[in-house]
Amino acid sequence: MTVTLGQPLTPDSQLFAELAAGIWDRHRWTNDGPLVRELEQGLGKQLGWRHAVATSSGTTALTTALLALDLTPGGEVITTPLTFRATSLAIEAAGLKPVFAAVDETTLCLHPDAVEEAIGPRTVAVLPVHLFGLAADPALDALGESRDLPIVYDAAHAFGFDDITHRGSLTAYSLHATKILHTGEGGLVASESPELAEKVRIARNFGLGGAAESGGGGNAKLPELSAAVGLAQFTRLGSELDARRALRAAYEARTDASQRVRRHAPGRRRGLVTEVLRCDPTEQAELLQRLASGGIIARGFPALCADGQRYSQTPLFGAGRAEMSALADSVIALPFHSRVQTGDLERFSDALA
Ligand SMILES: Cc1ncc(COP(=O)(O)O)c(C=O)c1O
Repeated sequence: MTVTLGQPLTPDSQLFAELAAGIWDRHRWTNDGPLVRELEQGLGKQLGWRHAVATSSGTTALTTALLALDLTPGGEVITTPLTFRATSLAIEAAGLKPVFAAVDETTLCLHPDAVEEAIGPRTVAVLPVHLFGLAADPALDALGESRDLPIVYDAAHAFGFDDITHRGSLTAYSLHATKILHTGEGGLVASESPELAEKVRIARNFGLGGAAESGGGGNAKLPELSAAVGLAQFTRLGSELDARRALRAAYEARTDASQRVRRHAPGRRRGLVTEVLRCDPTEQAELLQRLASGGIIARGFPALCADGQRYSQTPLFGAGRAEMSALADSVIALPFHSRVQTGDLERFSDALA
């Protein structure tokens, strides 16, 4: 038996068929249709934001958020080297340059002191990631305010996590099938500001509409059929979250019993998109191999500053590249979904014995 890292939530097929029939009747397939609006309202309420704008992916959510802020072209955006490459590629797609700052070794999220060090005359924004569902340091909000820099949060790992709401200028979520509630591919930009949310709507639609019509943008619209996929999962969200809470507790108990691994950021609340544990970086490859031999498909999380040639010249402030790579190599991401069974947990423990 093999257990995979992710397992998409299955939409309620009857509800999906009803919602899809409405699309056939209306013949409205895209362009801010009624199902996209319903999804935005439902997710805004579920996630605790006043405004939510659906996009075609988590990556385009980030790019659209940056475009909506009308930043100086070519400006620098300070971000973390410990993230999936979608974060830095979204910055590049918005015509801006990623610059890295060090992460805190416990939380693996951006360190405010390193961000402070990285701020220079060309800095136009800061883009922290709520990595592995841990809320990025709240001191970043104060820093953004005092230095007059917008903060755009990457919340791809933090769906449904209350600790990250009402923060920053804009927050981008992923609704990819590997996250929790999903639209196949999809994303969401959330904000407390009606003005900024409206700018995101315009940037999502080629920069067209409203007074800011001359601004930048692209096509980041979510189709109606994708919105129906998401809407047909709301009734299943609660039980999936409960199952993940129980699974995290089971993983933690088994992690505590192992000499080879330890909990990530013990004692801190975390969102329920991913589950990770920490190990000695020199042992990561062997542990991943042992888990794979037991049918547990876990994975590591390489640092961006070690991502081939692309970011080899990108400045990194507050730490060395080797230090960041070692922190990245201390992470093991585990299968995290309601289909993980007791037998899988037994094999997890055996692999770590
Ligand atoms: C930290 C982070 N940011 C952004 C994204 C991009 O999301 P999407 O796959 O929906 O484009 C991901 C995807 O896994 C991610 O892990």
